[in-house]
Amino acid sequence: MRRLFVAGGAGFIGSNFIRYVMRERPDVAVVNFDALTYAGNPANLADVSDEARYSFVHGNVADAPAVAAAMEGCDAVVNFAAESHVDRSIEDASDFMETNARGAYNVLAAARDLGVEFVLHISTDEVYGPATKDNPRHENDAFKPRSPYAVSKAAGDMMCHAFAETYGLQVVVARPANNVGPYQYPEKAIPLFVTNAIENEPLPVYGEGLQLRDRLYVEDNCRALLLLLERGDKGEAYNIQADNHRPNIDVARTVLDLLDKPYTLIQFVEDRAGHDPCYWMDSSKLRALGWEPQFDFDAAMQETVRWYVEHKDWWRQIKSGDFRAYYERQYGDRLAASRPYAS
Ligand code: NAD
Ligand code: TYD
Repeated sequence: MRRLFVAGGAGFIGSNFIRYVMRERPDVAVVNFDALTYAGNPANLADVSDEARYSFVHGNVADAPAVAAAMEGCDAVVNFAAESHVDRSIEDASDFMETNARGAYNVLAAARDLGVEFVLHISTDEVYGPATKDNPRHENDAFKPRSPYAVSKAAGDMMCHAFAETYGLQVVVARPANNVGPYQYPEKAIPLFVTNAIENEPLPVYGEGLQLRDRLYVEDNCRALLLLLERGDKGEAYNIQADNHRPNIDVARTVLDLLDKPYTLIQFVEDRAGHDPCYWMDSSKLRALGWEPQFDFDAAMQETVRWYVEHKDWWRQIKSGDFRAYYERQYGDRLAASRPYAS
């Protein structure tokens, strides 16, 4: 791998991955192709953007000629580009279909036409739909996505399979669990809880807060992704899970404990429509390549909370902009009708 094309590298996982690859592979040049939607932020890569082997192209994966032009000369591709928030997909999923389905197709088609050697596509555990610890999802299990977001991601994931089978494209699909860590946009549960708690604002917990999610530290995910890019079996999919599952209410309490804030900041609000109760995967296929997570739940949460405490300028700038209107839409009525925490 000499020149890596990264789509969606200005968001949460993409920016952590670019920083990780540039540190771990000093000979690799990176082209970051990103539309800079509300979730893309050049500040996420301020510390590497002056390096000669880093370049940024402002472009949209839905624009096929732009993707092909920027990918020219690259020998490897990673596609993170996505509309990524389930709650926004419930409001309106048209951008989700455009980016996560059509955009994924455009990235694959450009890689095929340009003879790119390796493609890593970032899918999600949500394509499987709900699962449990006793009945975890394996890579070849059927997809039963339930949210508009998950359906749009399933389309991109299945198109990778079609390109491997039909054109012999060397493509690997990664299906990570919920990531946590620095630079996550504060619409997602953990950065929302942490930043609200710092400001003594309520933590809106959906329903009873009993839904289970893994909490995969983003650096563990990046290590898995680089491993898959370099050593994954082409045409295969790999689950990435740290086995750090906790119900959302425990996550909210952990955030408050770490910040020394009272549990009374928790407010139970109206649940998300079609809320998946739990995702659970078997990640032994990835672990057989030698990967295992280095951050357990407590370490992942400590690192994350510390980062948000130390980077208030980063998230305060986001939360003072368009985010206010989104927050009011999502949470205004729900918080007005919320139920307080009782120990
Ligand atoms: P994010 O929302 O933080 O970042 C998405 C990035 O994609 C942004 O930089 C945005 O500007 C860019 N983008 C959006 N639409 C684009 C388009 N049309 N053209 C080019 N760029 C575009 O997302 P994230 O949390 O970093 O997720 C990255 C990937 O990982 C996504 O594919 C997501 O589905 C997947 N994933 C995320 C998680 C998680 O917990 N965050 C878990 C599993 C899988
Ligand atoms: P989220 O971070 O949106 O990720 P995903 O929907 O991809 O799992 O949500 C994580 C969990 O937290 C999910 O069960 C929904 C819940 N949640 C809340 O309880 N309150 C919130 O304000 C948000 C955004 C999510």
